Amino acid sequence: DDRQPFHGIHQAGITSSRPPAGLVVAFDVLAKNRSDLQRLMHTLTDRIAFLTEGGAAPVGELDFPPPDSGLLGPVVSPDNLTMTVAVGASLFDDRFGLAGVKPTRLATMHQFPNDALEVDRCHGDLLLQICSNTAETNIHALRDVVKHTPDLLMVRWQQDGFVPAPREPGERKEAPRNMLGFKDGTANPDSSDAALMDRIVWVRQDAGEQPWAAGGTYQVVRIIRNFVERWDRTRLVEQQTIIGRDKYSGAPLTMKAERDVPKYADDPKGNNIPLNAHIRLANPRTAATDANLILRRPFNFSRGVTKAGQLDMGLLFICFQADLDAGFIAVQNRLNGEPLEEYIKPVGGGYFFALPGVPDQHSYLGQSML
Ligand code: HEM
Repeated sequence: DDRQPFHGIHQAGITSSRPPAGLVVAFDVLAKNRSDLQRLMHTLTDRIAFLTEGGAAPVGELDFPPPDSGLLGPVVSPDNLTMTVAVGASLFDDRFGLAGVKPTRLATMHQFPNDALEVDRCHGDLLLQICSNTAETNIHALRDVVKHTPDLLMVRWQQDGFVPAPREPGERKEAPRNMLGFKDGTANPDSSDAALMDRIVWVRQDAGEQPWAAGGTYQVVRIIRNFVERWDRTRLVEQQTIIGRDKYSGAPLTMKAERDVPKYADDPKGNNIPLNAHIRLANPRTAATDANLILRRPFNFSRGVTKAGQLDMGLLFICFQADLDAGFIAVQNRLNGEPLEEYIKPVGGGYFFALPGVPDQHSYLGQSML
């Protein structure tokens, strides 16, 4: 079955396994009041429920625009589609009277020291993450939403990406590679471990959060350019020292297998894995930094050429965490100044809160917030 269930206490597209094609699109919300916003959330709920379930595309009449773009033909196949809705801090300004219910840690993404954020690729009132087996399915879903919300949403920015298809079940799972040619995702927490996800990813009733936010999660998006020409001229030993892993096996330096776990306590001076290696800074594996674990779900992107004639490719970094401050922000602060910065440049993205799931067909997205 290539259907990802839409109903549930959590939204799909977060702990569900990552299909080959991903897209994030940020919108400005044009709705003017609370009831317009409710209409928007009802519309999104209806469209996502249909698109992820699939079925016959409605047939048009000659004198009207076709109700469906036709991109997928007469039958909309579910194609493992997930559509995940998140909201940005700007939705909680005074337009909708929601200031009092803003998720406690939600803020506008600020500029980190190595960032060169481009205004037209940042932030937004609402974020839609669309993932499926193919780019066509994602684009069909995006156009369906845009067509159904002309007075409610305006596209602000969009970024798509891809990862190699997951291996067949049973085959030993290797992480797919990113644009630097390294396996990416090896040390990610196991998203099929529900108890672990409850601790790392999902917002709980307690923890000083808005009661309505339980079951949701903070979503960070970062569009990170990789300077691949420079990287491809960098010595292998330096590439591996910067990441802290062997390029071919993916194993932590001096270890054998991809899933081997680095023992930093036995290597206090960084003789095996340098103290400023990406993996060691990102996750020092101490009791204290256990609180900083995040679930990464990124895609690679390649989108043409910059004005300076460089290949414009990199990582559409996406991560989820129950606490934005203890999660992404703490990790990124540790990474500030890392040697990898010479080869990467974050240019866009934002902080969002992925809404709790829609438990059944009588409920709609964002209902507990509104
Ligand atoms: C691990 C690459 C950005 C957090 C890794 C690994 C690679 C990698 C190759 C090792 C394999 C793995 O466990 O996944 C990159 C590249 C980036 C980037 C090329 C930018 C273009 C980031 C950012 C963050 C981050 C922005 C968060 C702020 C992590 C974490 C790990 C990791 C938490 C796992 C470390 C561990 O548990 O051992 N990254 N990364 N990375 N990265 Fe990144």
